[in-house]
Amino acid sequence: MKRGLLFCILSGLLLCLHNGWREANTYNYWKSTANVTILVWKWPFGRSYSLKGNVCLDLYKIPNCTLVDQRSLFPSAHVVVFHNRELVQGSQQLPIELPRPQGQRWAWMSLESPAHNGNLKKFANIFNMTISYRRDADVTIPYGELLPLETESNLVEDSHINKTSLVCWVVSNYRNQHRRSQVYKELSATVPVKVYGRWNKMPLSSEDLLPTISRCYFYLAFENSLAKDYVTEKLWHNAYKGGAVPVVLGPPISDYKAVAPEHSFIHVDEFSSVRELGKYLQRLAEDRKRYEEYFNWKKKKHWKVKVHGDWRESLCKICLQYNSLPQHKVYSDLEAWDKKG
Ligand SMILES: *[C@@H]1O[C@H](CO)[C@@H](O)[C@H](O)[C@H]1NC(C)=O
Ligand SMILES: *[C@@H]1O[C@H](CO)[C@@H](O)[C@H](O)[C@H]1NC(C)=O
Ligand SMILES: *[C@@H]1O[C@H](CO)[C@@H](O)[C@H](O)[C@H]1NC(C)=O
Ligand SMILES: *[C@@H]1O[C@H](CO)[C@@H](O)[C@H](O)[C@H]1NC(C)=O
Repeated sequence: MKRGLLFCILSGLLLCLHNGWREANTYNYWKSTANVTILVWKWPFGRSYSLKGNVCLDLYKIPNCTLVDQRSLFPSAHVVVFHNRELVQGSQQLPIELPRPQGQRWAWMSLESPAHNGNLKKFANIFNMTISYRRDADVTIPYGELLPLETESNLVEDSHINKTSLVCWVVSNYRNQHRRSQVYKELSATVPVKVYGRWNKMPLSSEDLLPTISRCYFYLAFENSLAKDYVTEKLWHNAYKGGAVPVVLGPPISDYKAVAPEHSFIHVDEFSSVRELGKYLQRLAEDRKRYEEYFNWKKKKHWKVKVHGDWRESLCKICLQYNSLPQHKVYSDLEAWDKKG
């Protein structure tokens, strides 16, 4: 009887200790890794950055996040990041021969559209997370975003000031087969389109880009690839910073609506034909009040246009997501994930 009771208490205690240990272990391991180490296997496009000091804290105010690029630190890395370009071109290999430490995640990183990522079939069942401009990636690195500022805006600037061209386009890589080239041809048959860039032998220096765009009522923010969420600095930097109303061609309207301010852009798909679009732009430029409405979003609030900067920021951002990543995840078909629309 006594022995039974003792056994009972002891086994209860053991069970308790066991569960307690398990919980603590799971908790520490998965929920609150205090100091996350991110290893970049090879710097994107062969350009390395200094990792001296506490980079994530000093530059981006992200605490408890350590970036390293020495491969010898592989065993202690929580996340190992592989940039797609170098993998596909063969200038970096996956260290599949190294035993992957328990819980370590391998991340696939690319800011290219699917058409430029190559075939990813060989990367089935390798990666645990994705880092891309896509909203459904584990870590989303947009090409740009508008960040609301605290201060109230009292902007009364007339957006018509200095406008001398109706529609402007800046293009260097002109390809006949791009949908944007077709739209441009049809549009320029309806309204005048001023074309800058290397294609038209009218290259713009980076200092001249925004002042030039600011003299246009509309700026064609036409993407070269049409893919889910693929909205580049053409919108964020060129159009919004330049102060022209963007006419966008890229992913569907809903993708733009998810990331850009209400009534701040015109989507090509809003019109039954490019001719209709042209006529709309012409009428809008002549109608001061309705044209101004496309700037209402920045008259209510101040915004800061933030464009994707250096890779260290992207890598540090992993730490912000780290503790909410699923415990277990494998991209069994990365190619299908990348190419899905
Ligand atoms: C950073 O980690 C330390 C422990 O290493 C912890 O005390 C601190 O609260 C953490 N800071 C943040 C902001 O999470
Ligand atoms: C985090 O880990 C790195 C590398 O393991 C180390 O150099 C750094 O001192 C650690 N930071 C903190 C706050 O523990
Ligand atoms: C309009 O052009 C003038 C002269 O080029 C310039 O000084 C002024 O800042 C411009 N205004 C706007 C709103 O761009
Ligand atoms: C990461 O992927 C590998 C390979 O499929 C898998 O064995 C491992 O369990 C995954 N780890 C996590 C944390 O999801």
